[in-house]
Amino acid sequence: MADYETLEIEDRGAARIVRINRPKALNALNPQVIAELSRVLEALGQQIEAGDWSIRGLILTGAGDKAFVAGADISAMVDMGRDEAMSFASAGHAVGEMLANLPIPAIAAVNGFALGGGCELAMACDFIVASAKAKFGQPEVKLAVIPGFGGTQRLTRRVGLARSIELCVTGEMIRADEALRIGLANRVVAPEELLDTCLGIVETVAKMGPLAVAEAKRVLHQGAELPLEAANQLEVEAFSGLFETADQAEGMRAFLDKRAAQFSAK
Ligand code: CAA
Repeated sequence: MADYETLEIEDRGAARIVRINRPKALNALNPQVIAELSRVLEALGQQIEAGDWSIRGLILTGAGDKAFVAGADISAMVDMGRDEAMSFASAGHAVGEMLANLPIPAIAAVNGFALGGGCELAMACDFIVASAKAKFGQPEVKLAVIPGFGGTQRLTRRVGLARSIELCVTGEMIRADEALRIGLANRVVAPEELLDTCLGIVETVAKMGPLAVAEAKRVLHQGAELPLEAANQLEVEAFSGLFETADQAEGMRAFLDKRAAQFSAK
């Protein structure tokens, strides 16, 4: 695996685990972390595009037992001017787009603080599995700025405008159980079960038709931004398109033959 200074990369089964590794700064996102995340996501996208479907899910988490990511790195931002801040925010948004465009699910395994850019990075993943000791928040207003990596928009889409405004203007942290209640996290598990839970989800996905998983993710993301009629049309096209794949024939034939399907991503 290519060398990364701020990330640890580990493949386990069909999962690629990307661990942001700056525990002394609570894994804060500086420009180097953002650049390395871009590289790792680009490499994974290219690997799959080249036909290597050995990785069926990405798990993004934080090193250490305290933080997922405590935000964008304040010491890297303190002296930024407008142009630098714009490049930094744009680079953060680009990571979010890469996560959305990956043809496999990206799971945020939130093991501790997910604040500011950390909450935003978690929300840029397809869904969040949280440790019971995770804490979420958008505390940027305390620093007299606002979320810059998609927080104002993704948080609203996850939890609704009123809850999103409350979190973004008070800067208050919420606990994992509250994140679950408002739909920010999909699941909350004991800290020691966090990684295994995420690995289990990837193993489940790995048994499914890879192209179907990719199309489901694409249609869900793209459709969420469209009026219902256009979104439904997207689904009709993707559904019917999958009938041109060998995996569709294999999946349905295997069901009728009462055997396990052998998918080829073709
Ligand atoms: N940037 C840089 N360093 C950070 C950091 C951050 N976001 N968060 C924590 N650290 C550093 C601290 O400075 C400290 O470093 P030193 O040991 O060298 O002093 C170390 O991590 C440990 O942090 P604390 O001593 O503060 O730990 P704590 O347990 O007392 O508090 C915390 C934990 C509540 C998460 C607190 O660290 C905190 O409030 N962090 C900042 C959270 C924040 O404001 N995030 C938003 C950043 S702005 C942003 O993200 C913009 C955007 O949307 C793109």
